[in-house]
Amino acid sequence: MSGAEARAGRVCLVGAGPGDPELWTVRAARRVRDADLVLYDALTDAAALRGLTSARLLCVGKRGGRPSVSQDRINRLLIRSARRGRRVVRLKGGDPFVFGRGGEEMLALAEAGIACEVVPGVTTAVAAPELAGIPVTHRGLATAFMVVVGHAPEALDDTVGTVRPGSVTVVVLMGLARRAAVAARLITYGWSGDTPAAIVCGASTADQWVWTGCLHELGGTEPPPDASGVLVVGAVVNIREVVARAAATRQEPEPGEVKHGSHE
Ligand SMILES: C[S@@+](CC[C@H](N)C(=O)[O-])C[C@H]1O[C@@H](n2cnc3c(N)ncnc32)[C@H](O)[C@@H]1O
Repeated sequence: MSGAEARAGRVCLVGAGPGDPELWTVRAARRVRDADLVLYDALTDAAALRGLTSARLLCVGKRGGRPSVSQDRINRLLIRSARRGRRVVRLKGGDPFVFGRGGEEMLALAEAGIACEVVPGVTTAVAAPELAGIPVTHRGLATAFMVVVGHAPEALDDTVGTVRPGSVTVVVLMGLARRAAVAARLITYGWSGDTPAAIVCGASTADQWVWTGCLHELGGTEPPPDASGVLVVGAVVNIREVVARAAATRQEPEPGEVKHGSHE
């Protein structure tokens, strides 16, 4: 038996944050550096990853039109590699436990008797709005926020549909393609079409794209094709406008340069 096989393998589920490796935690960077094998998702910056570790890198997300590796196969790969004594990192966008299937992988590893560590990451649910200057809570505007997925807007009936319209900030992950349906759904729950809304794509990357406007305008927006983004609905979106207006006022004598419905 070789040294690697004799060593007990382990798996570490690591949160990679929204994209920029500078937003990784110190522990995340250390685990990646010390790994033998890293399984990463398509949204991870592979070039940056290569610069940080000599581990074998395996992309298990959708790439170049090819479908992603099935969850079952990922679980089997994790288990097999750990049994061979490898230090395996499963690198996931944002936080592993926020719509990241990290819990499922942890359960599969536990059932197989494999030691598993979790390293939390910066979730895009908070970081993407934040990097666009939108706080998810703000005194007097929102004392709670709700993070939901938008690929099946009818599923919002049991979450957003149960709260008083406008009483929380709603952050929608995986909802870009269904943004018109998500907006329509909120309006049927009684949310005003004039509620401030935002889209933040590619947060923390060089391609970050932000749109702000109103709920009823959300469906007519044109985010960059193939971008990954979050929708934000609630009065907190206006904070971005206030800050931008203040900055414009400081730079030029003419205020009002930042228009409602603008994007960058
Ligand atoms: C499968 S979910 C994973 C969420 C992740 N676990 C987290 O905590 O952020 C993928 C979704 O995260 C969001 N997302 C990921 N990276 C993003 C980024 N850089 N900017 C904006 N949204 C992003 C998008 O809504 C995308 O559809």
